[in-house]
Amino acid sequence: LSNGLGSTPPMGWNSWNHFACNINEKTIKKTADALVSTGLSKLGYIYVNIDDCWAESSRDKKGSLVAKKSTFPSGIKALADYVHRKGLKLGIYSDAGYYTCSKKQPGSLGHEEHDAKTFASWGIDYLKYDNCNNDFSKPTRRYPVMTRALMNSGRPIFFSLCEWGDLHPALWGYNVGNSWRTTNDISDNWDSMVSRADQNEVYADLARPGGWNDPDMLEVGNGGMTKDEYIIHFSIWAISKAPLLIGCDVSNTTKEVMEIIANKEVIAVNQDKLGVQAKKVRMEGDLEVWAGPLSNYRVAVVLLNRGALRTSIIAHWDDIGLPPNIAVTVRDLWKHKTQKTKFVGNLTATVDSHACKMYILKPVS
Ligand code: GLA
Repeated sequence: LSNGLGSTPPMGWNSWNHFACNINEKTIKKTADALVSTGLSKLGYIYVNIDDCWAESSRDKKGSLVAKKSTFPSGIKALADYVHRKGLKLGIYSDAGYYTCSKKQPGSLGHEEHDAKTFASWGIDYLKYDNCNNDFSKPTRRYPVMTRALMNSGRPIFFSLCEWGDLHPALWGYNVGNSWRTTNDISDNWDSMVSRADQNEVYADLARPGGWNDPDMLEVGNGGMTKDEYIIHFSIWAISKAPLLIGCDVSNTTKEVMEIIANKEVIAVNQDKLGVQAKKVRMEGDLEVWAGPLSNYRVAVVLLNRGALRTSIIAHWDDIGLPPNIAVTVRDLWKHKTQKTKFVGNLTATVDSHACKMYILKPVS
């Protein structure tokens, strides 16, 4: 969407994966505090996104959505002010239907103009727009109504389409929003994570600055996967130019989790200005090579072992888009080390079961 937002994939936090409907203004403030105190905001994690269950079950007399008194007593505007004072941005959630997915609050269908103006008046910076409980008309009818409403609201608001990939939002999302879901909801386990990665990869060609494929939010730190599996999760999301929306409790996180979500070099791949989503360029059973170009003729590569055995994986230059005779330096983004030797033609590494390696290859001049 040409609203000047999302020139690189959005980064921040969202309440759903960890807290679901158990949210309140204290949790949101605490998260904003933690994003700053941990240094995550400096790395680019600036959106603090409130998901479902923030509103009262009915609109007020003027037809406006209202924050739930029992959990958000100070209201959303106060929360936006709080978050803005910390240099962060506030996101909110609604639905292109009569009720949101939790059914606990009204959706925006038929109230798009009014709600967009309300969000803008509160100082909202990001809207996640879900697809539950609608009138069965096509999302291509309902979503653009909110796009126009946001454009009329007088405030630039990142527009995240949450249509779950059913009617291929990747095919129409670029004119409607800044990101679009390509999958159903992620859960905190290996099968769910890798299948989201696969479904999202299919649409790689359609992502570009201003509009990104969204394989759903991060589960890193929620406890259901091993450290290596979370490293895969973060590496694949990063190289796929997916939104990096942390989904754990950042106010209560371990050093191990921080090492993953705060890896500057991996974040830099995600935020590279070229904005090209990586693809799976070779698959041999459980072994995969993912690669995508970066600015300045560099290439980002993930060697992924989905199998049960430690195995070596080869990235061939002709698979990853480098000329056959070119020599490159190899930077390991998880070891934070540049290898001493230069490589020509291919790169081989041994990769543990359910683990990956991630590199930047830089042609030597
Ligand atoms: C849908 C979305 C999720 C989350 C929930 C909230 O399932 O896909 O990301 O927003 O609704 O109810």
